[in-house]
Amino acid sequence: MSDNTEMPEMRGNRRVICHVGDIGEAGKGLTLKRIIKGDPERTLDIFLVPDRDEVHCYINICPHQGTPLDLKPDVFLDIERKYIQCTTHFAKFQKHDGLCIGGPCAGSKLMKLPITVDDDGTVLLGS
Ligand code: FES
Repeated sequence: MSDNTEMPEMRGNRRVICHVGDIGEAGKGLTLKRIIKGDPERTLDIFLVPDRDEVHCYINICPHQGTPLDLKPDVFLDIERKYIQCTTHFAKFQKHDGLCIGGPCAGSKLMKLPITVDDDGTVLLGS
C-alpha cells in the first residue's frame, strides 16, 4: 500500500503532525501528504522549531530563492540555536515570527502555520 493512500490522523478539525518528543534541538522537517482534498499527490514541506516552552511551525521555503532551509535534514537553527537559519546563503530568521533579521532577504518573512500542542504532547496543525 502506498503512503498516499493513508488518511491523515485528525483531532476534531486539527491534523496530527507529530509528538513534541520527535522535535530535535535543531528542529524537525516533515512532508505533509493529502493536503488538498481530492489531490492525494499534493504535498507540503513544513518544519517545526523549539523555542523555550513553545514550538513554531513554518513552510519549508526560504523567501530568498524558494529553496528548503535545511540542506542537512532536521537542522533548521544556527549553531547557538538562537535563530532559524537557511543553509543555502545563511539568512537568519526570528523563531517566533519568521522575520529575516540578517542575510540576502532581510525584512522578509517565512510563512508561519498555526499549531497547537495538546496536553499529551501531540503537535496539531490548526488553532
Ligand atoms: S536561499 Fe535561503 S538565504 Fe538564499
